[in-house]
Amino acid sequence: MTQISNPHLGRDVAPPAPARSVGHSAVGDALAHGLPPQAYASEAFFALENEKLFPSAWVFAGFAHELAAAGDVVPVTVAGQPLILVRDRDGAIRAFHNVCRHRCALLVDAPGNVGRVITCPYHAWAYGLDGALRATPHFAGPDSHDHPGLDRRRMGLKPVRSAVWQDWIFINLSGTAADFEDFIAPVARRLEDLNLAQMTPVATLDLGEVKTNWKFLMENFIEPYHVQFVHKTTTEQPLTDHSTFIDGHCLGSTVEISAKDDGGAGQGGPLTLAVDSWYLTLFPNFVLGRYHPNEIGVHLNVPLAADRTRQRRVIYHTGEGALAAETVDGLAQLWRKVHEEDHEVCERLQRGRASEVAGDGGVLSPHWEDSLQRFQELVRSSVE
Ligand code: FES
Ligand SMILES: [Fe+2]
Repeated sequence: MTQISNPHLGRDVAPPAPARSVGHSAVGDALAHGLPPQAYASEAFFALENEKLFPSAWVFAGFAHELAAAGDVVPVTVAGQPLILVRDRDGAIRAFHNVCRHRCALLVDAPGNVGRVITCPYHAWAYGLDGALRATPHFAGPDSHDHPGLDRRRMGLKPVRSAVWQDWIFINLSGTAADFEDFIAPVARRLEDLNLAQMTPVATLDLGEVKTNWKFLMENFIEPYHVQFVHKTTTEQPLTDHSTFIDGHCLGSTVEISAKDDGGAGQGGPLTLAVDSWYLTLFPNFVLGRYHPNEIGVHLNVPLAADRTRQRRVIYHTGEGALAAETVDGLAQLWRKVHEEDHEVCERLQRGRASEVAGDGGVLSPHWEDSLQRFQELVRSSVE
């Protein structure tokens, strides 16, 4: 196997390519294999993703409704970098490195409202919501706040390229990713018949830390093969109703239920997943489910380590009027159960990587896992 040549990385960094035909005669040469186990289990590979994959991409980082008022701040981590999302007084959401320019202390460690300035807890340097450095108290001595060597105009918070579409905040650390409009277009196109102006977040599920690599959670969402087995108690979506799709960096599957049913959303009836649905992802980590007639779910996967990912889901109502409290409770319970089912299998995938049998990455269904294979190809090209 070819090793990736990077002087910072150990020898355990394996090629991320889906390995074809590695000599397992039972599989045959015609089928694609998954990524090698190191791509999921190696901290060196995770470091490589933080160095190359995430910085060059539009990474989904947060929800705009959680920054409702001027002065609201949310610390986030992208590619291992501590960042801060800020709602400025002009209404714009801005992103900065979450680090003081004095001695580089972390500025904000919890969501909240900072008022008009972000004040460093260490020596009280203060920054406006636009990132400008406003105060450097006693920097040059008692009651001497300025120094000729300190150019405040150059010492503001370091900005980061960001974009907001609907409720979703994206970060591009390198500043070199493609135009955001091109990035978001494949999802925007598939939602354009909805009235997104009335989209309302109705519930947020903190799904905690999952003991699995972030890519397993993405791949599990992209492929529909597991649905009828893993979710047999939560859904009635026969496999025949599913189809996969690949649209550039937008990957996933669709479900068209032959027997129409709106799942009770909005009517207070039985809540199931047995509705027409789109399962959309944007590489690398944006995940959106659209469920007929008026439900959207978006979940945020935050990679913490090679084998740990934090996950939250926001449920939205896109119909008119408010949902009844019991309907929202039902949706929250349903989705918590569905995610638990998915976490269980994703943790199994992670544990399976300890086996030498996983060396060839397993084998992919050419029918059900073609969009998953495309995801893996994007991973590969992003770290090369
Ligand atoms: S490190 Fe922030 S004011 Fe000193
Ligand atoms: Fe699932």
